[in-house]
Amino acid sequence: MGGEPISHTSAVVERTPTPGFLPQNRKYLGSKYRLLDFITETIVSRVGSVEVFADLFAGTGVVANAFRDRCTKVIANDLLYSNYAVNRAFLASTKATVSVEKTAELIERLNRCAPVCGYAHANYSGTYFTGENAARIDGIRDAIETFYAEGRCSEQERLVLLTSLLFAADKVANTVGQYDAFLKHIDAPVCAADSGRHLIDSNVYKPLILKLPAIELSGNRDNEVFNEDANDLAARLQADVLYLDPPYNTRQYVDCYHVLENICLWNKPLLKGKTRKFERDHLKSRYSRKNEAARALRELVQAARGEHIFLSYNNEGIIAEADIREILGSRGKVEVVSREYAVFGNGAGSARRRTLQERIFYCRRTASLAHSVGSRSATPASRERPEDPTERRRQTELFAPPPGSSPADPAAERRPGANGKIEMFDARGNSRGFYSPRNRLNDLTGREWVYWSKSVINKPYPPNLQHKLRSSHGGQKPPDLCGDLIEVFTKAGQRVLDPFAGVGGTLLGAALRGREAVGVEVNSQWIEIYREVCRLENVPEQRMIRGDSRIVLGQLAGQGRRFDLLLTDVPYWRMDRNEQSKGQYKRVGQRQKQARRSKLKAFNRSAEQSKEQWLEQMREVFACSLPLLRDKGYVVVFIGDMYHGGRYHMLSSDLASLLCDLGLIPKANLIWYDVSKSLHIYGYQYEYIPSMIHQNILVFRKQA
Ligand SMILES: C[S@@+](CC[C@H](N)C(=O)[O-])C[C@H]1O[C@@H](n2cnc3c(N)ncnc32)[C@H](O)[C@@H]1O
Repeated sequence: MGGEPISHTSAVVERTPTPGFLPQNRKYLGSKYRLLDFITETIVSRVGSVEVFADLFAGTGVVANAFRDRCTKVIANDLLYSNYAVNRAFLASTKATVSVEKTAELIERLNRCAPVCGYAHANYSGTYFTGENAARIDGIRDAIETFYAEGRCSEQERLVLLTSLLFAADKVANTVGQYDAFLKHIDAPVCAADSGRHLIDSNVYKPLILKLPAIELSGNRDNEVFNEDANDLAARLQADVLYLDPPYNTRQYVDCYHVLENICLWNKPLLKGKTRKFERDHLKSRYSRKNEAARALRELVQAARGEHIFLSYNNEGIIAEADIREILGSRGKVEVVSREYAVFGNGAGSARRRTLQERIFYCRRTASLAHSVGSRSATPASRERPEDPTERRRQTELFAPPPGSSPADPAAERRPGANGKIEMFDARGNSRGFYSPRNRLNDLTGREWVYWSKSVINKPYPPNLQHKLRSSHGGQKPPDLCGDLIEVFTKAGQRVLDPFAGVGGTLLGAALRGREAVGVEVNSQWIEIYREVCRLENVPEQRMIRGDSRIVLGQLAGQGRRFDLLLTDVPYWRMDRNEQSKGQYKRVGQRQKQARRSKLKAFNRSAEQSKEQWLEQMREVFACSLPLLRDKGYVVVFIGDMYHGGRYHMLSSDLASLLCDLGLIPKANLIWYDVSKSLHIYGYQYEYIPSMIHQNILVFRKQA
């Protein structure tokens, strides 16, 4: 846990957590809590019943929470991890993921944690917090990570605990609600002895006490929460209402809430200056930059899908009203609804009362634009054919026929395009079949989906992308096969993680299919090859981290990184040590040759491993990987069975039971029949020994 414990036991608070704080019980710049009636009325009166509501700049989440009971699914997103944690806690806790009793008990324990003079104490005591509260933050924050690492709380419960700490810390902070500065007088009495003037908020001196958030467990099953740049997310979202409430002015939210963000992330970076800020350029918003805000909004609106866009933007914002009208006007008819709104001060400490015009810009996309919602390309080269009334007639079909089968029912072509299916075309203009906007898993058309539901993959993957260079790593997988799997288990723009990245089959496959991927690889030799392949083939390099997954993944999880798919090819037990056959070997129709050693010898330099040790290593890496995977995300693992020591080893089955033990739900065991593999003669006339020309691809799903 780090740091020395404070001997001061009076600071240990013995108290049962008081339930009950809500997202609105927090001072937040631009919070729409007081405008909720105005916002909900404006939206509901124009849209009627909302099915999926997405709040892309959710902040405290009060707007998203207001729509929870009005629609079937709420999506919330914010660039700050601290907001993500709070939104996850309030919008995505379910009976399956959170035990209220257990969480209440953990909160009680946290309230009894001994204060520790650690990172928060070293950086924030005497400025943002009293020394005692800063040390309490250290003790509690470390304990939350320990609970999680020891499996005493689930990932969702960890976020509920973080939410509890965030609200508690905010309550005793020596600020006016924002952390771009702290107030003077932290050591002074609450009121000046001579004048009686109020010097400091008395809450600052109270002990920090965690309370249980008033989380609602029912009705959250489908809600989703993201921690991304809204512009990256917009194109992937399937929502009928997009609510946009970006920052209006040049004050960066991360500057205003850096202390809470830092406590939630808990990476303990070096802090600088009097205000103790961390390096945070990556968390700065384009919407708070005068010369970029309008462009950012234009890009988001262009990428957005869905029929209804509502934008909150007041009359003091940095994007001019005329520009907003023009940007939204490019997608449909624009209406503006205003309301006067009293605010105090300018957000930077002044107490002057002013009146603002709070505006909601409503854009309903015109029919032809809205119609293309849900259409997307399965590969970067694919495209939609431009809207054409004669084409639209054909959009009623569920699946176009598989290649080579009889043409579609001609009667279907005459039905009006009412079910929203969209015909997709490849780069050469050939039909790929019909895509349904209701497809939640991937961007495949019905015909492609059927093709990929086969349990055997026998598609040839001819050598490409510097195959020879990549082959120095004996276990490499065809990037195109990885790309195909990525297309089956993700939508465009989603993220893929590979904890055993090797020479980067997954990373290359992801780049080819327009997905972002992060790989972790312990051996720098393979990383160098991957980078060389990217350079030679002019493929954008993805993030490849050198290190042991068991350490690196914990750090990524702490940074709040989340992925939609985990695709990997695990290092096999003993594979790196096996000869490909004993002594001499012979291929069918060829002369006998001397045995070759596996090229995987550099795969794992550690001492000889037993199968149990190998499995334990796999368990550790997958246990570290799973917190990074979003709920309902898939885990797809290449694993070959092997013949060794006179017996067949069902490594796929061993690995599958291990993944089940980790709580994953088995979904499929695909067989990749590698048509490029040559047959060997083994055991001929004596004993049956298989010639392994297939690999298993285990498919699991993370439970919500
Ligand atoms: C005006 S506040 C939203 C307030 C929110 N509606 C509420 O009621 O609490 C804007 C939010 O946008 C977030 N933000 C800024 N730039 C962003 C971006 N590019 N993508 C996602 N969120 C962003 C900020 O962190 C901030 O929480």
